[in-house]
Amino acid sequence: MFNLKHIRHTYIPNHDVLSKDIRIERGEHLLLLGPSGCGKTTLLNIMATLLPLESGEITFDNKDYSSLSQAQKDTMRAENFGFIFQRHHLIGHLNVVQNIAVTQTRKDPAYIKALIRTIGLEGKEKQKARDLSVGEAQRVAIARALANRPNVIFADEPTSALDDSNTQNIIDLIFDQAKATNATIIAATHDARIKSRFNNILEMSA
Ligand SMILES: Nc1ncnc2c1ncn2[C@@H]1O[C@H](COP(=O)(O)OP(=O)(O)OP(=O)(O)O)[C@@H](O)[C@H]1O
Ligand SMILES: [Mg+2]
Repeated sequence: MFNLKHIRHTYIPNHDVLSKDIRIERGEHLLLLGPSGCGKTTLLNIMATLLPLESGEITFDNKDYSSLSQAQKDTMRAENFGFIFQRHHLIGHLNVVQNIAVTQTRKDPAYIKALIRTIGLEGKEKQKARDLSVGEAQRVAIARALANRPNVIFADEPTSALDDSNTQNIIDLIFDQAKATNATIIAATHDARIKSRFNNILEMSA
């Protein structure tokens, strides 16, 4: 599904790992592990086409990033990728339902309702994002990332703001959805609680 070769980026200090070829197959669960500042977020962003590819090669489903226009990248991203950001980026004045619906390409209110039930926020549908607790906001951001049933779920520290019980619920939600849709998960975390769920770990050093 993904092929990476010799990725380099101004902000990624360690080039050792990334100078190798990395293949990620459909349905794989890959965890990027490494100390703060080693470039996990940067690499996720490059793979998700949110940052430009400065040097090296990436293909997704045989599409070569360096030969795609911005519009083609935007379409590819909207059709295939869901992104859970390290900082949740919710829209403060919109409520829970509106925030989840905002990136849905095909409107599906029933699915949004089901997601809200799974993240445990039934009854808070109309609450504005700015009035949510940090953990609640992170759960909404996760529902938003899953609302399009993406082929690839990028998850940047998805559970850092969550307690143990919510961490298990959220990880179950992400993995259950990935299983149902045969999606690939590419995550970055320090969180030892979720390490065991991944079948492939890529260690990055500082
Ligand atoms: N826009 C930028 N301008 C300058 N330096 C940047 C920029 N973005 C990231 N960096 C630097 O690149 C390095 C990698 O950052 P990145 O956010 O990818 O690390 P990370 O592994 O995700 O860390 P953390 O575990 O703390 O989230 C850091 O040293 C960071 O300071
Ligand atoms: Mg990071």
